[in-house]
Amino acid sequence: MSALDGRPPEEALRLDDSLSQRPHELYRSLHASGAGVQRVIMPPGAGPWSGLPVWLVTGYREARAALADSRLSNDLQRTARFFGGGGGAGTSRGAFSVALSRNLLHADPPDHTRLRKLVNKAFTSRAVQRLEPRIEQITTDLLDRLDGVEETDLLVSYASPLPIIVICELLGIPATDEDAIRAWTKNLVSGASPAEMATASEEIGAYLTDLVARKRANPGDDLLSELIRANENGDQLADAELVPITFVLLIAGHETTINLIGNGVYALLRDRPQLELLRADSSLLPRAVDELLRHESPSSHGTFRTTTAELPLGDVVIPADELVLVSLIAANRDPAQFDRPHELDWSRSQTSNLAFGHGIHHCVGAPLARMEGRIALGRLLERFPDISLAVDEDELAWTRSTLIHGLRSLPVRLTG
Ligand code: HEM
Repeated sequence: MSALDGRPPEEALRLDDSLSQRPHELYRSLHASGAGVQRVIMPPGAGPWSGLPVWLVTGYREARAALADSRLSNDLQRTARFFGGGGGAGTSRGAFSVALSRNLLHADPPDHTRLRKLVNKAFTSRAVQRLEPRIEQITTDLLDRLDGVEETDLLVSYASPLPIIVICELLGIPATDEDAIRAWTKNLVSGASPAEMATASEEIGAYLTDLVARKRANPGDDLLSELIRANENGDQLADAELVPITFVLLIAGHETTINLIGNGVYALLRDRPQLELLRADSSLLPRAVDELLRHESPSSHGTFRTTTAELPLGDVVIPADELVLVSLIAANRDPAQFDRPHELDWSRSQTSNLAFGHGIHHCVGAPLARMEGRIALGRLLERFPDISLAVDEDELAWTRSTLIHGLRSLPVRLTG
């Protein structure tokens, strides 16, 4: 699609699997070069993005500016053109996954403004606060099941079930369907072949279409029913909008939170002194959750965006109609912004980070994710103070994904 802006391709940095497997190493060297924006070629195995030339934003200042700039579009119609086949049927992502992606995350103003207002009406801080006792209960139940267990893959037994149960209960999805939801989203986010992705997206799309119809006929005390009821000066969400919105809440609502818990535990186990400080003083937990989000950001990059006009950013001017990827994981360890960026430190004075994005697409679910992280990490350390890694660190592998930064498994010993 887009040429390398008239420059020979060899001037762009060809990325390899260090983008997902050793991102901090990669970004440490990019930061050392001093440039906050780099021209890169996406690595093989990066799905529809493989081999595409992209402007990669790695500096904190540049990332924040880019995320707040209206010249960067999230409109799926624009970005899908780069992935071949025009973004409809025939792309490796499949026609239905494009339909499901027509949600607020992939919309620009004024569509985004309208959808976000309606979602904000339903997803209130009161709705999140109400979940706290239930999150405590689910956490206690999961920890009870681990009593007497010596070793476990914490991603499977703890980090994954909690966010799935929470988002399903929040949306009003029956508990009996949770396993199917987990299997579909796992296939959609990582590891699956294009055919498996297409099947998963078709199945989850059909499931959510049916769920919306059932909630409309029989509304309950849940977020999906609230979204159906949400009304902004007579404006309401149509079914064709509700299905992709429910989809993005479901996917964004658990895959990232799993990795907040998984990456958080991993980072704590590598830094015993900070872990001990936290165990000794649980009032540090809210700060610690934000510092863990900065240190091992679960959303490695924001969604792919495109320039609608020339965009001056850092030392470069990105031409119109180019793909841009903002690296949140790189920005959050930019030495120009954070002292000793690779260290965990609950007492750092510069605490604001980009783990939840910035600007109009800033995460809707941030308060819920922070609450889940605080309860999950706090209760785990209380129950299993001697928890430790059960394998050597270099045996751990990361999910092959451009958008998600999370471990494939997290074997731990629960007892000393
Ligand atoms: C947007 C991260 C949890 C729902 C975003 C964005 C990021 C993010 C980086 C912006 C993406 C972009 O600008 O391209 C995270 C992280 C989470 C988390 C790290 C957990 C630790 C949640 C939860 C929910 C949720 C629990 C819902 C229950 C959304 C939605 C958007 C979004 C709907 C789109 C907002 C918009 O476009 O206006 N999230 N998220 N997220 N997130 Fe989250």
